[in-house]
Amino acid sequence: MTPFERRAREAQTRLADRGDDLLALFPSRNLFYATGFAEEPGERHLFFLLPATGDPVFFVPELYEEQVREASRVDDVRTWADDEDPTERLRAVVGEFDVGRGRVLVDDTMWARFTQDLRDVLPDASFGLASEVLAPLRRRKDDAELDAIRRASRIADRVVDDVRALGSDAVGMTEAELAREIERRLVAAGGDGLSFETIVGSGPNGAKPHHGSGDRIVEAGDPVVLDFGTRVDEYPSDQTRTVVFGGDPSAAFCEVHAVVREAQAAAVAAVEPGARAGDVDAAAREVIEAAGYGDRFIHRTGHGVGLDVHEEPYIVAGGGVELEPGMVFSVEPGVYVPGEFGVRIEDLVVVTDDGCERLNESERGWASPAT
Ligand code: CO
Repeated sequence: MTPFERRAREAQTRLADRGDDLLALFPSRNLFYATGFAEEPGERHLFFLLPATGDPVFFVPELYEEQVREASRVDDVRTWADDEDPTERLRAVVGEFDVGRGRVLVDDTMWARFTQDLRDVLPDASFGLASEVLAPLRRRKDDAELDAIRRASRIADRVVDDVRALGSDAVGMTEAELAREIERRLVAAGGDGLSFETIVGSGPNGAKPHHGSGDRIVEAGDPVVLDFGTRVDEYPSDQTRTVVFGGDPSAAFCEVHAVVREAQAAAVAAVEPGARAGDVDAAAREVIEAAGYGDRFIHRTGHGVGLDVHEEPYIVAGGGVELEPGMVFSVEPGVYVPGEFGVRIEDLVVVTDDGCERLNESERGWASPAT
């Protein structure tokens, strides 16, 4: 059984246990998770229909049939042609599931027009969200998922070490040039695209946590926030280092960097099964507050990472989610001084049976070898 078949079967068990009748996915991360078929959302009707009991059906445009059969082990693939009315075909296929007044869970990101069509063909059913059954499954990563995230993280580690080694050669480059250089190296190291828009925040731009990259030139002594990731087998990495490529940074920056590094280490040390998400956030926040920068730590400590770069569990103040082995999330405290600089240090961790394992091991200090 492939991991995808196993996940679909687990989803089916949950549907049955909850008394739900049908799961309807469309091109999304959920669809890949449950079938192995990866595709961008499009205007044609394409659904994976998983009933609580019995066999699933892929309802796809004719032009996708071969792709869907190759990617998934789903036998029952029903197609419709471009000159047909997909809604009438859908009505016939869905009719076989005998949902009646039952409950249908639709993909959280399904386009409204497709949800409307499902409502039309299932007029007596009630509707909920696919995440009700899939999010609890997706929270704990299986071996295939961990393997992919590990490989993606290793690529990011290697690239950040190589970029750091540019040292004073990076001085004079624009943020955007540095971002393109990072992206080129990610692909060369085996990554498949980006997890998200690469962040190169130099000097005052580092104080904006989600700054992308722009035409500001990296100067000697500038702190530079580097936050980027790549995908392997659809799974992303996410890592941040704050470095100085050449010259001497300010004493204020050095102090803040040491505080953030200590906070990050404290939060990682707080990760263990049974701890709450809020405990991890508190461990980081206490260090930063004690150093007097509490009001400059302006985001949560971390987020779950899986097929989505931001997913459950969220490592947020007061977060009640209980950590379980197999959960993967970022630990990324930061301190942002508007108009001056920002510091963020981020690693992914996976919760183990007795603590956690860091998935990123690249150097966390700010110095570059050639500084
Ligand atoms: Co992150």
